[in-house]
Amino acid sequence: MTKENVLEALKSVTYPGFTKDIVTFGFVKDIIVEGNAVALTVDITSSADEVKAQITEEATTELKKLGFENITINVKAPQAPKQMSNSMSGKNIAPHVKNFLMVSSGKGGVGKSTTSVNIAVAMAMQGKKVGLLDADIYGPNIPRMMGVEDQKPEIQGNKVLPLKAYGVEVMSMGSLMEPGQSLIWRGSMIMKAIEQFLRDILWSELDVLVIDMPPGTGDAQLTLAQSVPVTAGITVTTPQMVSLDDSRRSLDMFQKLHIPTAGVIENMSGFICPECDAESDIFGMGTSAPVALEYDTELIARIPIEPAIRIGGDTGKPVTYHQPDSETAKRYQEAASKVLAFIDKVNAEGGVDNQAIQPTTPPGVSACSTGAAPQQSSGGCGSHGGDGQGGCGCH
Ligand SMILES: Nc1ncnc2c1ncn2[C@@H]1O[C@H](COP(=O)(O)OP(=O)(O)O)[C@@H](O)[C@H]1O
Ligand SMILES: [Mg+2]
Repeated sequence: MTKENVLEALKSVTYPGFTKDIVTFGFVKDIIVEGNAVALTVDITSSADEVKAQITEEATTELKKLGFENITINVKAPQAPKQMSNSMSGKNIAPHVKNFLMVSSGKGGVGKSTTSVNIAVAMAMQGKKVGLLDADIYGPNIPRMMGVEDQKPEIQGNKVLPLKAYGVEVMSMGSLMEPGQSLIWRGSMIMKAIEQFLRDILWSELDVLVIDMPPGTGDAQLTLAQSVPVTAGITVTTPQMVSLDDSRRSLDMFQKLHIPTAGVIENMSGFICPECDAESDIFGMGTSAPVALEYDTELIARIPIEPAIRIGGDTGKPVTYHQPDSETAKRYQEAASKVLAFIDKVNAEGGVDNQAIQPTTPPGVSACSTGAAPQQSSGGCGSHGGDGQGGCGCH
């Protein structure tokens, strides 16, 4: 028996709550094989005892099948969380949502909405309770991409019920406005809108709310991060250098806003020719991984340019749901699994806290009053002055 045999056998052990196995997740380490004895470590991201027990039991069964008699499995788990993300100090105006995932990009048109849709649908297909919030107030494309552009949400009192498509709860400014209308808004109004999306939409008890942000780093991003603890962020980029330059800003923003970075998605990475299935390099490929490394994170998926993705977006039929066996759908599913595992890890390690980026003012002075200087020290918040109305995040 070799280490390879052991790894192969352990591929039958799925990580509880996920569709992927413990080998694919990279949890199995330090395998030692000696005759009929085997010892190994499984380094998991959850601190739940049930998870530990289930992995030990299933791995033991698989290793016995290989003929091992002396089996030592050391399951290494993080310390039980002191507090989960939603009970941390700081501000959370949507406490019934367990995790918030910010999907951002430096530029528009790189496929942020397409990514948000497909990741949200993939997570729902993996059994999670998922919401998709279109926070791109100026360019709300989610209703069309999710096939709900003709639906109007139901109002209950002064709250709004989200729409539902592909098992995902959906809300967008586009669903609240007439088609083709433009919005000419000041930063302070954007902040208000983001808050209302979190407070006044009747989201269920969601595992994850995926949030499609406007491009760039501005009021919407800052307001979101100050209103709820954002568990994870992903940056969508295309492989060209000009897009990567802007992605660095997006990754830098996650760091300044204390948002744990789940990784980078390289979209429009190569082209899959529908006639011949061959992959060719149009915008470049693989350029994002080094940038991800610069920011201590990783490339979580490369999604090629594929006509089916665009058609799926235009017709409201996400490729992940409608062509689940396609290579692209598989890549979205894999990216979704990685992000879910990352969220699990963040929570296992104590969750996130947005205390450090709350607006602070000297006693008795309103952050919104003229002349009140925003605090510079915490989390880079002071560098986002909003729309010149003073105070960081004043509303
Ligand atoms: N990988 C891809 N292959 C083909 N078309 C894509 C891909 N990603 C995005 N698109 C298309 O490109 C356009 C822009 O994508 P979108 O998600 O709206 O970008 P953003 O939200 O960043 O502005 C859309 O028409 C979308 O369908
Ligand atoms: Mg968009």
